[in-house]
Amino acid sequence: MADSKKKVCVTGGTGYMASELVKHLLEKGYSVNTTARNPEDEKKVAHLLKLVEDHEHGDLKIFQADLTNEGSFDDAIAGCSIVFHVATPVHFASQNPEADMIKPAIQGTLDILQSCINAKTVKRVVLTSSAAAVSIKDLSKETGGLVMDESCWTDIEYLTSAKPPTWGYPVSKALAEKEAWKYAEENKIDLITVIPSLMLGPSLPHAVPSSISLGMSLLTGKHELINALKGMQMLSGSISITHVEDVVDAHIFLAEKESASGRYICCNVNTSVLELANFLSHRYPQYAVSTDSFGDFPATAKLSLSSEKLINEGFSFNYGIEDIFDQSVEYFKSVGLLQK
Ligand SMILES: NC(=O)c1ccc[n+]([C@@H]2O[C@H](COP(=O)([O-])OP(=O)(O)OC[C@H]3O[C@@H](n4cnc5c(N)ncnc54)[C@H](OP(=O)(O)O)[C@@H]3O)[C@@H](O)[C@H]2O)c1
Repeated sequence: MADSKKKVCVTGGTGYMASELVKHLLEKGYSVNTTARNPEDEKKVAHLLKLVEDHEHGDLKIFQADLTNEGSFDDAIAGCSIVFHVATPVHFASQNPEADMIKPAIQGTLDILQSCINAKTVKRVVLTSSAAAVSIKDLSKETGGLVMDESCWTDIEYLTSAKPPTWGYPVSKALAEKEAWKYAEENKIDLITVIPSLMLGPSLPHAVPSSISLGMSLLTGKHELINALKGMQMLSGSISITHVEDVVDAHIFLAEKESASGRYICCNVNTSVLELANFLSHRYPQYAVSTDSFGDFPATAKLSLSSEKLINEGFSFNYGIEDIFDQSVEYFKSVGLLQK
């Protein structure tokens, strides 16, 4: 149980991962301040209000804040000892990624770090980065077997010149993390970054998160999303997956572990689209997952993301590939996206 007076802030509590993080923090006895761009939007905050009901003694407050509005996180961060900065602008189809994702991700992150300094109570900031900030580079000459660790950074020059589909998102994540490190070093902020891979597992918010739809595309048979999954393997070298609860628990573990420092990759399953299709077709024969429509698409991943640093710190993953998909299938059945 956390010190009952320990107050923490989670930015973007309406989101998939952040709402699970809020839930786990309340269960551990923390007081939680979270933020939403529009706390009046009943559909978007309903799951947060339900958490308050379910955790009778849970202490959750929702503040209005926007990454594009300087200083707007001040109130939510005031008095907190730990800040989890999770919110990020996500517009995969944006025609103007610079304005829609890159600028607000960087400015918003620096603004939140400034709010942490202003508060004078913040002991540690845990920033949610992404595998997209680590593994993306020109992989055309790679044949396989690459192991990516925390020393690896996505090649921003490659992304901004080649402009592959969705290039703005990895650029926004890599630059926001790099700028955060610079700002933290200059201002002596205790910063930890967590680098999750694609997250799956049941979701609390009303809307189905895009990452689960992507990860479940071989089961739902949605061609556009299957192509996006293939695009993910081509761009980032693998299909790397982690249960959202493991990602959340890694955030809390690292926030609480005094000796933790630097970046931490959080990834439990490294695979490819074809290997995943084979696994899913055997485990869920009722959904007729296609395994023979891949032509000359690369059968195996070119790289894997290593969580060795996180594991050596003492963290263990709870959910392997079977649990991740069993739970995601049940979730998709419950929201009507897979037949029962
Ligand atoms: N999902 C994955 O597979 C995955 C994998 C690796 C890393 N990550 C990282 O994990 C974090 C959470 O991802 P997620 O999938 O849970 O995200 P999500 O469900 O898409 O939620 C994004 C959150 O960011 C908030 N947000 C967007 N623009 C904002 C702005 N201008 N000002 C304030 N808040 C804003 C949204 O708030 P509103 O409700 O107000 O729109 C929402 O709460 C992100 O940092 C993401 O990059 C995710």
